[in-house]
Amino acid sequence: METRIRTADERREEIAAAAASMGVDEDYISTLVDTFYERVRAHPLLGPVFDEAISDWGPHLAKMKDFWASVALNAGRYSGKPVPKHKALTSVQPWHFDIWLGLFRATLTDTAPSPEAAAYFMERAERIAESLKLAMFGLPEIGAPGGRRQS
Ligand code: HEM
Repeated sequence: METRIRTADERREEIAAAAASMGVDEDYISTLVDTFYERVRAHPLLGPVFDEAISDWGPHLAKMKDFWASVALNAGRYSGKPVPKHKALTSVQPWHFDIWLGLFRATLTDTAPSPEAAAYFMERAERIAESLKLAMFGLPEIGAPGGRRQS
């Protein structure tokens, strides 16, 4: 049997096909991002953290749509650096992430086109949240050099 390394185009097509089978497309990603950040901004504890850092929401929402389209559709439109951006947010505490993930989960429950799509986005959000937290605060039980301690 012949095995062949897939080209980048073939991989992109496979990811797009997997997304389509879950009902995920650009329109859904746009709905997800708009609904989620509406809820984030309305949240009494999380809203102020975002509003302090973001003066113009239009470009931020467009960037987040590009980000999620790159994750779920392999669209390749996002090329930012989330870690330094989040490290610069000095008012963020580790427990803010629990609120963030709770709002994201509720948004998926209310809007996702299929349970598979909800699970897909949630799993990726949790993984990215863990790595951002690690970069921002270090390992809680050890305390990483340069990390902000949890207290
Ligand atoms: C408590 C949790 C979080 C807070 C308070 C937060 C806050 C923010 C803020 C204020 C920005 C804008 C930064 C700027 O433009 O200077 C930002 C950007 C961003 N966030 Fe978060 N975030 C959180 C969690 C997450 C998670 C879990 C993800 C991914 C699943 C994420 C993905 C991103 C991305 C991709 C950007 C764009 C970075 C860039 O400019 O390239 N964030 N976040």
